[in-house]
Amino acid sequence: MKLKDADNLYYIGGIVRDEILGKPSFDIDLTYVGNAIEFAQNIDDVKILKINEPFGTVRIKAENKEIDIASTRAEIYEQAGHLPTVTQIGCSLKEDVLRRDFTINAMAKSVKDNKIIDYTGGLEDIKNKKIRILHDNSFIDDPTRILRALKFAVRFDFSLDEHSKELRDKYLENVNYDMSFKRVKKELIETFNLNSQAAYDEFISSKIYKLITPSEITKSQLNIEQLINKYIHLINPDNIWLVYVGTIRDLDNLKPTLTKEEQKIISDAYTATEKNLNNDYEIYKTFENMKAETILLYAVIKNQKVAEHYLSDLKDIKIQITGKDLMEMNIPPSTKYQECFDYILKTKLYNPNLTIIQEKSLAKEFFSTNC
Ligand code: CTP
Repeated sequence: MKLKDADNLYYIGGIVRDEILGKPSFDIDLTYVGNAIEFAQNIDDVKILKINEPFGTVRIKAENKEIDIASTRAEIYEQAGHLPTVTQIGCSLKEDVLRRDFTINAMAKSVKDNKIIDYTGGLEDIKNKKIRILHDNSFIDDPTRILRALKFAVRFDFSLDEHSKELRDKYLENVNYDMSFKRVKKELIETFNLNSQAAYDEFISSKIYKLITPSEITKSQLNIEQLINKYIHLINPDNIWLVYVGTIRDLDNLKPTLTKEEQKIISDAYTATEKNLNNDYEIYKTFENMKAETILLYAVIKNQKVAEHYLSDLKDIKIQITGKDLMEMNIPPSTKYQECFDYILKTKLYNPNLTIIQEKSLAKEFFSTNC
């Protein structure tokens, strides 16, 4: 049998939603009503690449593409906030879609005849630009859906329907912090790497940040989106989310999920906030080895003017003179070398056009008064 002729095979979730919206989709999700692994083993010209027996999923190679096929499955959330447990592989398509997050993500499209199966009103909600959960326990079972709702709202310019919003707000008043913060982190990244001020405004004003900390947060007055766009050429786009999420001072829950680099980006910014930066030399010395992401976070949580002064005016100022030059000037190597470089740097920060010849005469001047 050929893949495209198979009964009971459906595109599912994001790919159906994106096609209806006329947007590109990044992965192809297929679901088979029944056991996808047995199904894949009976298709012609297909290479099985990977099987995940407990979840009933299989990765195949067909027509030169890698495709994941899931079995329809029913799940229960034994522990709210954690991954659900599969209770049945090969349930009906309806049961499979009813375990999902939102109506817009719960549509299927038959591979054989392109018919759309919409049990939950996803088409209507797409028309009305609404994000709607499928049952009242949805956010309790899986609080990451609160962030997913924000992500899809921003991505598609949709809004959360009123009843879903009430349930979200009720949950946020009483968050169960025994949840998988690894999953929370994934959604934070996908939401805030969109670099959207609207997402940040909603995150703070609707108190979605309560998913991470019980503390109260006040909103930064700065337009973070604009700030990031201005310096986008200096940062790694994968780290944009840290400039937003780093504004939350209490990140204890999230911390175990952060990489060393991510932790450093945030902690360097907070360390800098404790310093008094009274002149260009102090500003330069504080930020010279920090990532631009850190400096942007500093701008948001402490002082935009200082941060931008460093990034726009000071960052690229470098002295040219080296230890080799000093040796050639018959100055014996010592700890004074570093003091001399700092002395030249202080001058150069106010006069960035200083030439190497002028730097050398400053060095001469320094050693004649300091030795
Ligand atoms: N899903 C869910 N609850 C979650 C995560 C996912 O019900 N917490 C379901 C949704 O039906 C979703 C599908 O699993 O459509 C696939 O999840 P994912 O790949 O994260 O989402 P997509 O909808 O494909 O969105 P994206 O375009 O961001 O990949």
